[in-house]
This record gives sequence, C-alpha cells and structure tokens, in this order.
Amino acid sequence: MRDHSDLQAMNERSLTQQAAVRRATFSPGEVKTLRPFSIWEISQFMFDVPADTLRRKLADDPSLPQGETEEDGRQRWFSLAEINELRRRVKLRGKKLLPERPKGRAMRVAVSNFKGGVGKTVVAQHLANAAALDGYRVLCVDFDPQATLTHSMGLNEVKEWNTVWGIMCRDLCREADRIMASYDDPDDCPYPAADELPEDVQSIGAQRVQDFIQPTCWPTIDVIPSCANAAFVEFASAQYRGLHKAWTFFGCVARYLDELPDDQYDLIVFDCPPAIGYQSLNAAFAADILYVPSGPGYWEYDSTTSYLGQLGDAMGDISDGFATLAEDAGIKLPKTFLDVRLLMTRFEATNPLHSAMMDAFRNVFGADVCAHPIEMTRAVEQSGRFQMSVYEQDYRQMTRETWKRARQSFDRAYGEFKETLLVSWRAHSDGPEA
Ligand SMILES: Nc1ncnc2c1ncn2[C@@H]1O[C@H](COP(=O)(O)OP(=O)(O)O)[C@@H](O)[C@H]1O
Ligand SMILES: [Mg+2]
Repeated sequence: MRDHSDLQAMNERSLTQQAAVRRATFSPGEVKTLRPFSIWEISQFMFDVPADTLRRKLADDPSLPQGETEEDGRQRWFSLAEINELRRRVKLRGKKLLPERPKGRAMRVAVSNFKGGVGKTVVAQHLANAAALDGYRVLCVDFDPQATLTHSMGLNEVKEWNTVWGIMCRDLCREADRIMASYDDPDDCPYPAADELPEDVQSIGAQRVQDFIQPTCWPTIDVIPSCANAAFVEFASAQYRGLHKAWTFFGCVARYLDELPDDQYDLIVFDCPPAIGYQSLNAAFAADILYVPSGPGYWEYDSTTSYLGQLGDAMGDISDGFATLAEDAGIKLPKTFLDVRLLMTRFEATNPLHSAMMDAFRNVFGADVCAHPIEMTRAVEQSGRFQMSVYEQDYRQMTRETWKRARQSFDRAYGEFKETLLVSWRAHSDGPEA
C-alpha cells in the first residue's frame, strides 16, 4: 500500500537528481534569440511598400538605422529595435508606420478553450509576435502550468511565486488589508487581516508589481511566466478562499493589471489552461476580448461547445453569488466581454472534413467565427529546444513557399484580430489616439 508520503518521497528523490538529469538531457546553455529581419520582409510584410522605396528612404538619411549587411551578399538585416526606430522616425508615401493606439490602458485578450492541443498557445504566441512586429508593446500572461508559452519564449528558471499564483497571493494580502480597513472597528471585521494569513502567502504577497514581469528575447514582448508547480494554485486557492471568505478570487489578475501604468503596454495576451479553474476564471474576468481557438475535428467542436457552456455557467454563478462582495471590491458584475471570437486552427482547406467543420462553425456561431482560419503548417514546429513561431523562423531554413504561405495565414488571422481589437479599443478608450 502506498499513500501520500510515498508520492512525496518520490518527489524528493527526483528533486535530488534533477540537476543531474537536467545536465544530461537538456541544453541550458541554449539561449533563445530573436533573428534580424530582411528588407524584403520589412517592406513586404510590415511596412507594405516596395523594397526600393524603403531603400531610397534609408539612403537619403544616413542617420536612420541602416541594419547589418550580410558578409556575402547585398541583403540587409534589421533588428526589431531598429525597425521600431524606423517606425518612429519615418513616414513612407505620407503614411505613418506606427500602428493605431487608442488612449488609455492596454487591451487584454484571453486565448482560451478546453481541449489541449487545439493550438491555444500557438495562437497566443503568434498574435503576440505579430503585434510586436506591427509596432505594439506586448505583455503575455501564461496562465497554464504546462508553461508551453513560457518555454517557447525561452524562459526556464521560473519559480511558482513569480507566476499567476504569486499575483493571487499578493492580491489576497492586499484585499485582506483593504477589507479590514473598510471597518471602523477592526474587531468587527469577521475576516482575517493580511498578517494573519499563512506565512508563505504573506512572503509571496510581499512582491512588487513589476517583480512578476520578465523580459524575453523580443525587445517589445514581456511575459508573466508559469511553471509546473503553479498547478498547485488550483488547490491552494480553494484553501485561501476558506481562510478569507470575502476574497473576490476571480478579480486578482484584473486588479493586478490595473496597477500597471497605462502606457507600459498596448496589448496583453493571456494563454489559458484547458480548464475552468481559479486561473482561467481570473483570465476571463481580466479579459476585454475572448478569443476561442478550435481545431477542425469533431471532438474539438464538442469541447468548444462544452467550454462555452461551462464558462458561461461559472461566470453566471459568480455574478449571482458575489454581487455584494464584488461591488465592495469595485468589480462590475455581470462580467462583460467587448467581443467573443471563435478561430479555427490547424485547418487544411483540401480536407473535406475540415471544410464541413468550418461550415458547421459558421452555421452555429455565425459572425462570431473569424473569417480567416489558421492553416496547418510545417512552419510551426519545435525547432531546437524552443517552439518557434513562423515569425521567428528564418525563411532561409525552409522552402520559401512553405514559410510564406504560413506567414500569410497567420498575418491574415492577425489582421482580422487587429480589426476586432481596434473596434473594441476605440469604444473602450477615453479619448483619441495617444
Ligand atoms: N497551425 C498549426 N500548424 C501546425 N501545427 C500546429 C498549429 N497549431 C498548433 N500546432 C501544433 O499542435 C500542437 C499543440 O499546439 P498548442 O498551441 O500547444 O495547443 P494548446 O495550447 O491548445 O494545448 C503543438 O505541437 C503545435 O506545434
Ligand atoms: Mg497550451
């Protein structure tokens, strides 16, 4: 017979060996870097002008970033920082190169569904990458303890207190203090003060806002990472709720993001776990827009249906059950999204079953289905230790056609995403473009 202590002993044994296993099976020296971008790519895919127009502009003003010329050739390559400087300093054919940025805080988009493997992380990663290449400053929040997004962004030393779990502990401490302070006589408060909460919650909760944010190899993408140990947040949060019954547990991440300066980011992308739990509810309650990727298989349709129902039920239950507590906490219920969109992923236009599924989605969900599905492509794959997006892959490493086709598929999906985003953003914004 074996009980919990056997599992704990196995965990301890594994931890003592972990460093050795890691040395033998992992290449920690490999650091993810961001490749430079060619004039061809910049003019065709980013600035939408003929390459010669861009070349002329660069020749006319030697003080502009000039990129690096390849040793053997004429092709010039620019870092994203250089491209962003060009965006700030140059107009091409009278057109501004900076993307529209309505005033106010960053927009928050949750990429979420139940089923593992539908492409949530790939969608979140590509939207973040495409937005950064478009000139936006992006924060990614990895809500999934599988941490695929975190690993694909090149991070591998994440501690659980730096994840959404840490944000939730910090929120519990701050909310406990706020609720205590709302009583004229603290003795009347039936809930604990922050200094009565468990010590680990207090020490994790003592972190500052910016402590959770980590840089990536993209100069304009940061990440709040996740790690396997953060899975425990689901169990821990249930315990914390028992300790503090007035805690609006679903509002932690929204409150946290409200603390960030409005102009620190333009877009915040959430990669969600395949579950309805404490983390995914925090993602839903913090999100302005819900983006639901689904694959073209029947079980993915089944899972999407079930996801929409369960998320709706959970949000409805919270609206009913937390009305007073939420009002005290300044949360408006029922929670509303500015938009909800369904996005077909891993789509093969030549596969009749996929087309039938696309038709079914359009019949059932109508205009909520994105017009441009994301195609199945060999250009999205594990490359070395990191999952590389099509934007990160050097097109010289594969057939140019494969890369271009994949890039166009993600670009079209991003273009549609940006339209959705801007409609909501302008409506949400408190003024004209910043
Ligand atoms: N458009 C695509 N083309 C090819 N492979 C894809 C595509 N989208 C996702 N994949 C692959 O499918 C697997 C699961 O994708 P992922 O985004 O991690 O799913 P999820 O986050 O929903 O669990 C990954 O191995 C990924 O490389
Ligand atoms: Mg994932």
